[in-house]
Amino acid sequence: MRIVVASDHAGVDIRREMADEARELGYEVVDLGPAPGEAVDYPVNGARVGRLVAAGEYDLGMLVCGTGVGISIAANKIRGIRAVVCSEPYSAKLARQHNNANVLAVGARVVGPGLARLIVREWLTAEFEGGRHARRVGLIEPSDSATAGEQLS
Ligand code: RB5
Repeated sequence: MRIVVASDHAGVDIRREMADEARELGYEVVDLGPAPGEAVDYPVNGARVGRLVAAGEYDLGMLVCGTGVGISIAANKIRGIRAVVCSEPYSAKLARQHNNANVLAVGARVVGPGLARLIVREWLTAEFEGGRHARRVGLIEPSDSATAGEQLS
């Protein structure tokens, strides 16, 4: 499994913690930065990771900005991306089991390094349960505001 990670300037340290946790769990991790001291607008890296995951170049993505909010919104603009912001492990686990979230976002100003690692661990070790959840996730796509939430058959 290959994971791509990125952040804005606010998320550098937590991004590195999350990348290390994923590596310790056996994942191959590619870190797109930025380096410490380099300013990057969160929509740029949110969309970048979203495009790479949606294109199938990576299995999953992880993102960090100050709150996790802006960068997850940016990723969610890419068709096929289900990005979630998580500040605790329970939501991270359920986001995978029920929502098949393919991008995890964390807020560097919201959670500390230990909690960020725990969130990553729960998200990566959970598995999508399929079944009724697959049908519900299917209702999210296509992410077209005219048909979102409707049964398309
Ligand atoms: C940058 O200061 C901050 O706005 C950003 O990291 C993020 O929190 C946006 O959602």
